Amino acid sequence: MSTMTLDAAERTESARSELTGKKVSVSQAEVRKTVGQPFSDTAKLRMRDVNVFYGETQAIHNVSLDIGRNEVVAMIGPSGCGKSTFLRCLNRMNDTIEGCRVEGELSLDGEPIYGAKVDVVPLRARVGMVFQKPNPFPKTIYENVVYGPKIHGIASRRADLDEIVENSLRRAGLWNEVKDRLDKPGTGLSGGQQQRLCIARAIAVSPEVILMDEPCSALDPIATARIEELIDELRENYTIAIVTHSMQQAARVSQRTAYFHLGHLVEVNDTETVFTNPEHELTEAYITGRFG
Ligand SMILES: Nc1ncnc2c1ncn2[C@@H]1O[C@H](COP(=O)(O)OP(=O)(O)OP(=O)(O)O)[C@@H](O)[C@H]1O
Ligand SMILES: [Mg+2]
Repeated sequence: MSTMTLDAAERTESARSELTGKKVSVSQAEVRKTVGQPFSDTAKLRMRDVNVFYGETQAIHNVSLDIGRNEVVAMIGPSGCGKSTFLRCLNRMNDTIEGCRVEGELSLDGEPIYGAKVDVVPLRARVGMVFQKPNPFPKTIYENVVYGPKIHGIASRRADLDEIVENSLRRAGLWNEVKDRLDKPGTGLSGGQQQRLCIARAIAVSPEVILMDEPCSALDPIATARIEELIDELRENYTIAIVTHSMQQAARVSQRTAYFHLGHLVEVNDTETVFTNPEHELTEAYITGRFG
């Protein structure tokens, strides 16, 4: 038994006893085993026994999960439980973090994501990402959207690029607001508009999977509602994994919800079950606001 696991169990215990005042009955074995329905018959992404380390410190412990085609899976859990770390495994964004090591089997349509021959550039075109903080390039709105299609060789003719720009911005719900100022900087848009621009940029390369890490945390309720509608529309064509701190958002946009706790995947179930009748007592403690 590693020191890390002991440490995790101790921290779990104190989290519960501090907030509930109850004697803790959660054993390490219960935290380690994922309860519910982590697998899918139509897996687009398949992850098995994933462990992630930052140097000597383990941040993700033996996580196995499928994300199905045309499915939205929400990832929830207390701050620091490993949601972003796990999400970044799915398109190898952790490769950019020094000292980060990923172990386990991860595949996209049955092809290994971490294969020796995998080129991460096309991989990240297939598995796009939208970050918490909108990060438009310091370029025009038009150039933000066509950047990916150009570098991935998807289009180069002006007419084709124009079509991609209009389609992507329409789908992101931004076209009407920006169609007359496509030559203005993306950074000049409001926060909610910038986030929709980043979503347009992500879908412009026609990815198969979109990873979203708290995409609405900086947005007002109107912009948030627009993005939630968009997620629902995108699901028709894409597979989506979304990290959120809003349980209402998870309930609104996802079909299944995955609850992480101290680097362990505690429970995955259909979203309604997670929020109305969770199987694991840690999930219940979290969704009823007893910690996190
Ligand atoms: N670049 C890094 N180097 C070292 N440790 C890291 C790094 N990024 C994350 N960690 C650690 O890994 C663990 C998981 O962090 P992660 O950011 O994945 O959590 P999270 O669930 O996304 O949290 P939040 O809800 O606050 O965004 C934490 O203990 C964190 O301190
Ligand atoms: Mg995070």
